[in-house]
Amino acid sequence: MGACFIISFWFALLSSFLLLRVISGTRFRGQTELASSPPRGWNSYDSFCWTVAEEEFLQNAELVSQRLRVHGYEYVVVDYLWYRRKVKGAYVDSLGFDVIDEWGRMIPDPDRWPSSRGGKGFTEVAKRVHDMGLKFGIHVMRGISMQAFNANTPILDITTGSAYKDSGREWRAKDVGIKERACAWMQHGFMSVNTKSGAGRAFLRSLYQQYVEWGVDFVKNDCVFGDDLDLAEISYVSEVLTQLDRPILYSLSPGSSATPAMARDVNGLVNMYRITGDDWDSWKDVAAHFDVARDFAAANMIGAKGLRGKSWPDLDMLPLGWLTDPGSNEGPHRKCKLSLDEQKTQITLWSMAKSPLMFGGDMRHLDDITFNLISNPTLLEINSFSTNNGEFPYITSRLSQHTCTSQLRNQTSKGISDFHVLALTSCKDANARGWSTRTLDDDIEQVCWKEKLSELQVPFCLHKKQPLLASDEELTHNHRYDGEVHLFATERTDFCLGASPHKKLTSKEFKRGSFLPCRRDANQMWELNSNGTLKNSYSGLCASMNTVKANSANGARAWIATGRRGEIYVAFFNLNPGKTVISTKITDLAKALPGGNLNTASCKCREEWSGKDFGVVKESLSIELASHGTALFVLNCN
Ligand SMILES: *[C@@H]1O[C@H](CO)[C@@H](O)[C@H](O)[C@H]1NC(C)=O
Ligand SMILES: *[C@@H]1O[C@H](CO)[C@@H](O)[C@H](O)[C@H]1NC(C)=O
Repeated sequence: MGACFIISFWFALLSSFLLLRVISGTRFRGQTELASSPPRGWNSYDSFCWTVAEEEFLQNAELVSQRLRVHGYEYVVVDYLWYRRKVKGAYVDSLGFDVIDEWGRMIPDPDRWPSSRGGKGFTEVAKRVHDMGLKFGIHVMRGISMQAFNANTPILDITTGSAYKDSGREWRAKDVGIKERACAWMQHGFMSVNTKSGAGRAFLRSLYQQYVEWGVDFVKNDCVFGDDLDLAEISYVSEVLTQLDRPILYSLSPGSSATPAMARDVNGLVNMYRITGDDWDSWKDVAAHFDVARDFAAANMIGAKGLRGKSWPDLDMLPLGWLTDPGSNEGPHRKCKLSLDEQKTQITLWSMAKSPLMFGGDMRHLDDITFNLISNPTLLEINSFSTNNGEFPYITSRLSQHTCTSQLRNQTSKGISDFHVLALTSCKDANARGWSTRTLDDDIEQVCWKEKLSELQVPFCLHKKQPLLASDEELTHNHRYDGEVHLFATERTDFCLGASPHKKLTSKEFKRGSFLPCRRDANQMWELNSNGTLKNSYSGLCASMNTVKANSANGARAWIATGRRGEIYVAFFNLNPGKTVISTKITDLAKALPGGNLNTASCKCREEWSGKDFGVVKESLSIELASHGTALFVLNCN
């Protein structure tokens, strides 16, 4: 009797939960670890922007399978807007061209993805990809689309297979979409859903259930991290993913102004997360990754515990080979603009920092040089298996004679100095404390940052205003912004500080905190906490003023890591615009190694890019590098 009761009780409790599972039962649980090494694959964005179609996607996948799979490239990922009809008027932030199903879920554009017709979604494409021995990934945006919101579609309850009902009524898209939390850089595309309501959660579950049915292995969730943090959605999606029986690797993007403090809230919930804005093929983009990669390595974030496995700070795809442009409606049509030295620097840093490696170039035009870069066995060994990775500070450098000294002098004499930018970080970050109010003579209230900003010798202040009045619609949704304020640049203008840029940023851009016409938009609502943090309502992140070093893209850098066979990897990078000699003492290497032990008497050394054998190096490692060049030393000191 008792046992029978317990069984039926559990059955009732779990029956809804079991519907989430695919039929094969416990195939996944406890067996494989997700992302046990940095994930590797191909992504359509750098070569197709949003325009990729089925045939060209499968051609790329086939070539990944034939040429890169043996090198560990495993995922092929369709990047954003696969549901947008590619017709006149459609572009990356257009409204009204998306294909959605009766439940407000995105489905592939049938003209670009013919096999999706008849309600099959990506099933056929995923099957083809799996038959190639690869795994299939898709890009998804935050929350719900503006198009579903406007159509006010019903929400699918996957436990009943019909419309979601609660409190005696059917819930719809307008009940769960939060319009003031539209994705800041795709205002007409998507908005957050309210994860506090059962209907909002049901909507997110219905999305991921569909991805499981299609056979998706990898989801890149965009506009939920960095400036656009949506911790509620990330947390709930992660929870849903642990309940699905299909192991889906969870990736977050982009990571503009990501800090280790911010990432600590998400890294255990995901498998990879971007730590920069979009990386394109410019030197400034490459150079912008050194500091942030160093900070995440120093914070022990590389290979930390993640969703059903590990998580990896992601430096973004590799825009090498044959590419398109950001925001373009065109497919691949041009060569990568980085010099070969710069490309080597990029892949060396990405490998030493154990970033996921997602190749972005068109596989159908893969030249030998690019292929050799992305399949270099030493780099891939480092990327997968090295440990103790981090920046190595014990180096000296000097500019070679006769190189670009006038250019360098110009850079400094022109007075390029450090500058300050508004940055966002976790509100738990002590660096975010420092805001306070002050009242001017005429009762005008300001919110000011503690430090006087260098030469100007004036504090950075913003004017405080009560927000615009709420509309009735918002009040019924209970988005009241109690105690929150607008911040103006000056007393008179109607331009308000917004936390997130209204355009997708690349790594080289620092523009945050843009002033835009005031709106009742979560992005423009701020709350001053008593501990001196200033919290933004859109992302829940706090503002701080960061100093950007004028020379952060210059100088000599080095990274170190240890190999699984006891070898030591040392990479030198010359970020200077001229030739530079970089050196380190062999005895200093031990300072960065666990235990500090090194048999310095017999270190045999080889340099990877030149293939040069240095024999036994006793005193120091030293090499002259061309501008933006790199050297990768492999030392065996047994
Ligand atoms: C240095 O700056 C001056 C004045 O801005 C300019 O005319 C000159 O071409 C620059 N020289 C170099 C090498 O860039
Ligand atoms: C400041 O206060 C807020 C609100 O109480 C809290 O969430 C945050 O963690 C605090 N931050 C710091 C750095 O003390």
